[in-house]
Amino acid sequence: MKKIIVTVDGLSSAGKSTLAKALAKKLGYVYVDSGAMYRAITLYFLRNHVEWNDKKKLQNAIKEIQLDFRVNDRTGASEIHLNDENVEYLIRDLIIAEKVSEIAAIKEVRAFAVTQQHKFGAKKGIVMDGRDIGTVVFPNAELKIYMIADSAVRVERRFKELYEKNPNITIEEVRNNIEMRDYMDSHREVSPLKKAADAIELDNTNLTEAEQLQKSLALAKQRIGG
Ligand code: DC
Repeated sequence: MKKIIVTVDGLSSAGKSTLAKALAKKLGYVYVDSGAMYRAITLYFLRNHVEWNDKKKLQNAIKEIQLDFRVNDRTGASEIHLNDENVEYLIRDLIIAEKVSEIAAIKEVRAFAVTQQHKFGAKKGIVMDGRDIGTVVFPNAELKIYMIADSAVRVERRFKELYEKNPNITIEEVRNNIEMRDYMDSHREVSPLKKAADAIELDNTNLTEAEQLQKSLALAKQRIGG
């Protein structure tokens, strides 16, 4: 059967990864969380005190980074590995979220991540979520979804997720972080977040996970023609 590329872009906490994972599972496709790549690079930079404003140091640091996704045998989830270490849990911390938009705006960092993303998508049969997947990484993707949701709903979702790990976190911290990242991700010079002209907008403010999956699956099946 024909295989396609599905891209899922949108603002922070719009529910992209929930949908992308579920869609990939239904289609039997690979799921790639491109945000996890930028988060893992940020973790590497922070841990190794990389001075990323120094071009030489930045380039040397990038050469030391190896990223790959491996399926967790127990849960079936795809998890990111940084130089063979599973960092899926560590990269979800607010400390990483505070810095990731600055790191993701660096042209060399994006070139490194996009090269890998192209390799992941070379055989199609992939669902990738992020900010620039439908516009820059796979501009010819057969199905592009652009997700939106009310800001209060997005803050609430991310708060619940982070609160489970850290009960000291406040809703203001989460709101500030989301607003800051949305602004930086949409206003940067290289590959800013924007809706591709041929993307289909999906507002999931009032949709259940099952409903958004059903809508997206119908769109994917139209493209696949099966
Ligand atoms: O999807 P996420 O919130 O885990 O992504 C973390 C950050 O990575 C996000 O604030 C912006 C950046 N990012 C990006 O610039 N391009 C992508 N394709 C995916 C994420």
